[in-house]
Amino acid sequence: MITRAIITGTGHCVPDRVVTNNDLAKIMDTSDEWIQQRSGIRERRHIEDGLAPSDLGAKAALNALEAAKLTPKDIDLLLVTTLSSEHTFPGTAAFIQRKLGMQGIPAMDLRAQCSGFLYGLATADAFIKSGSYGRVLLVSAEVHSRALDFSDRGRDTAVLFGDGAGAVILEPSPNPERGIMSIKLHSDGDFAEKLWVEYPSMAQTPHVTPEIVREGGVYPKMDGKFVFKHAVTRLPEVVSEVLESLHLKPQDIDHWLFHQANLRINERVAATLGVSVEKCPYNIDRYGNCSSASIPILLDEQVRAGNIKPWKLICSAAFGSGFTWGGAVIRW
Ligand code: UT7
Repeated sequence: MITRAIITGTGHCVPDRVVTNNDLAKIMDTSDEWIQQRSGIRERRHIEDGLAPSDLGAKAALNALEAAKLTPKDIDLLLVTTLSSEHTFPGTAAFIQRKLGMQGIPAMDLRAQCSGFLYGLATADAFIKSGSYGRVLLVSAEVHSRALDFSDRGRDTAVLFGDGAGAVILEPSPNPERGIMSIKLHSDGDFAEKLWVEYPSMAQTPHVTPEIVREGGVYPKMDGKFVFKHAVTRLPEVVSEVLESLHLKPQDIDHWLFHQANLRINERVAATLGVSVEKCPYNIDRYGNCSSASIPILLDEQVRAGNIKPWKLICSAAFGSGFTWGGAVIRW
């Protein structure tokens, strides 16, 4: 009998500080109309002074543990996904582990950018299937706001990203028909520079200079149209791949949880798949793009709202920097 991994608890945490499109329009040349039309974003959260990504991650983790009726001491492995690591090293996992008092168990960061949560799910699933670890805490924590260019120069990316964290607990499923049914992952490093932060860079001497900082080399750069085109192609592809692996059709899926990079991308993908937008909940209007945290935040909101019932089929898909992309089907 196959041992599947099943999600037994979900949680999330977003900062209290709400930053609206009009707030951004006061500090750079942008407008509420432009941002909403292009992306669907109305507002996002920015972390308060004195808080760190690991604070958001630890809070999300505690919410997930409570939902699973577990304590930090019950966890065998901590996985953290992030593209906005608290420090260059060690990984954010070390700081979350310390805050949760889970010292001693393995803790590691996994870097797959906006597809990070799905890469994390696949990793947790593999460890559980192999019998290596029983209970896995997967935390996706992102703080973008401290490293965005809020001048006119950075307006194409600064308006898109927000801060937040989501977490899930995974355990061996007591029922082989429920849990993570299939995950398909891909990446293509040919496009690494299409969405990236170039500096600090260990490929350069020195790894950063005052000039690089002045010229904005430490901020995200994106070829938006190029990324958009690839996202609307790769997402339906990987969704078809993961559904076919289970002999499912898009119509069999009850809930679509897409990465929240752009509402227009997700509407396009839903149309390509012939899926009704009513089955595609979103939170990008309130939180912007929280990279790897977007999907677990959305999942937790849907679970807590009572929208996702046992035995329902969820399909989740993400695309992001790397490029990386992936799709997963979960029977709740
Ligand atoms: O999570 C990882 C994956 N990320 C994505 O999937 C993002 C994919 N890309 C996108 O979502 C879209 O490309 C954006 C929302 C980023 C941009 O939309 P777009 O329709 O591709 O706009 P654009 O970049 O072609 O810019 C159009 C115009 C430009 O002006 P000109 O050259 O036409 O005069 C920009 O300078 O809009 C201008 N612009 C802005 N105007 C007001 C760029 N940023 C802004 C801004 N406010 N914030």
